[in-house]
Amino acid sequence: MPPTFLPTEADEDHLRFTMDSYVAEVSTTDARTSIIFTLHEKAGALAETLKVFKDRDVNLTHIESRPSKSHEGHYEILVECATDADHKKIEEIIEKFKRHASTVFVHDFNSRAKQNKESIPWYPQKISDIDQFANRILSYGAELDCDHPGFTDEVYRARRKHFADIAFNFRHGDKIPRIDYTEQETATWSAVWDQLTSLYPKYACKEFNHIFPLMQQNCGYSRDNIPQLQDVSEFLKDCTGFALRPVAGLLSSRDFLAGLAFRVFHSTQYIRHHSEPKYTPEPDICHELLGHAPLFADAEFAQFSQEIGLASLGADDATIEKLATLYWFTIEFGLCMQSGEKKAFGAGLLSSFGELEYAVSDKPEIGAFEPAVTCEQKYPITEYQPKYFVADSFEGAKNKLKSWAATIPRPFHVRYNPYTQRIETLDKVTSLQKLAAEINSEITTLQDALGKIRVVE
Ligand SMILES: [Fe+2]
Repeated sequence: MPPTFLPTEADEDHLRFTMDSYVAEVSTTDARTSIIFTLHEKAGALAETLKVFKDRDVNLTHIESRPSKSHEGHYEILVECATDADHKKIEEIIEKFKRHASTVFVHDFNSRAKQNKESIPWYPQKISDIDQFANRILSYGAELDCDHPGFTDEVYRARRKHFADIAFNFRHGDKIPRIDYTEQETATWSAVWDQLTSLYPKYACKEFNHIFPLMQQNCGYSRDNIPQLQDVSEFLKDCTGFALRPVAGLLSSRDFLAGLAFRVFHSTQYIRHHSEPKYTPEPDICHELLGHAPLFADAEFAQFSQEIGLASLGADDATIEKLATLYWFTIEFGLCMQSGEKKAFGAGLLSSFGELEYAVSDKPEIGAFEPAVTCEQKYPITEYQPKYFVADSFEGAKNKLKSWAATIPRPFHVRYNPYTQRIETLDKVTSLQKLAAEINSEITTLQDALGKIRVVE
């Protein structure tokens, strides 16, 4: 093999006239090396500079340029070297840039990634990864405390085990098994239905009251029928892409919130004990289907819920606790202001006739929903909330949440790709370029649509 020709300093004297600025950034990963540098705006400067790569036989897979915002009269150039490039040659090139640069930032994403890898908690990357934690439950749904209304009821306990087993065996892609609810179970549902539905017109938010009749028309909601999770899930999928998934017991906050990132809501399928239809010590199907499910059909609410989930992925424990608190004061016990009146949108309120009336009364303390403040609020879980937070709208709450989430300590950002049902980690130039291309495509669609509307007008 002939010796590699390396240009001497004298050979590259011309670079003093072209590389007369600085290297802005060098980043390396296992996949590629990216170099961003600036050049004076003059003919041939880029071609001359790129000779440094050509002379060392380093192929460039991508070149991009844009006017520099910080250095007038300069261009910023991004180049990416091929994945199979000789690292020694690349290092020589980087050294060359450094010698001609006044400012250099070098980022070794490999070592940073290795450093962070151990401290970032595992999180699901694709929707089927939920199978890996769906059964990581803190307590099995069939285990009842001694003060549970069904504790001494052997029939009820066997029924609870049946539901827990269904959820335990469920895998992503399965249809949720249909349940033949007993007369006694349906009577319990009817009793809860009667109490709550009479209150919704007055106390529930307008989005809930818009959707609730649609669920009666489309997925089996009625006084005398407990809807099937599969039917409700299909309805929600049609509306917003949300899906229900049966859960065998109590999930940790981290795992539960991770499901929301994929628009998956973990739902119980059993019903409370018939002896006390007004009370349940844990979430049951009345809470899930009357309290939670309707609003997942609302686009803004669905997006707000997913944002909480996305913020939780890979977050540290302290952040998870804050997100669980935000979830509590919105999705469980949230209020919003509509036409000058407080209305409920939290499932804990919409499934509890006593607390629903109490929450919108003048008795509890009320605060504006501000994530940085709300996330610090302590709360009881077995009694009415002493304080509630009021959102101006779902969209406003979502925007506030996104702004707050941008400040959480996490060395990367994520987005959900609904086509692949995967989480995309936005920590590389290429992933950001892909996102930019998608946004460009959407903007083109928007412009085309606007053009057509103008023609019609
Ligand atoms: Fe809930």
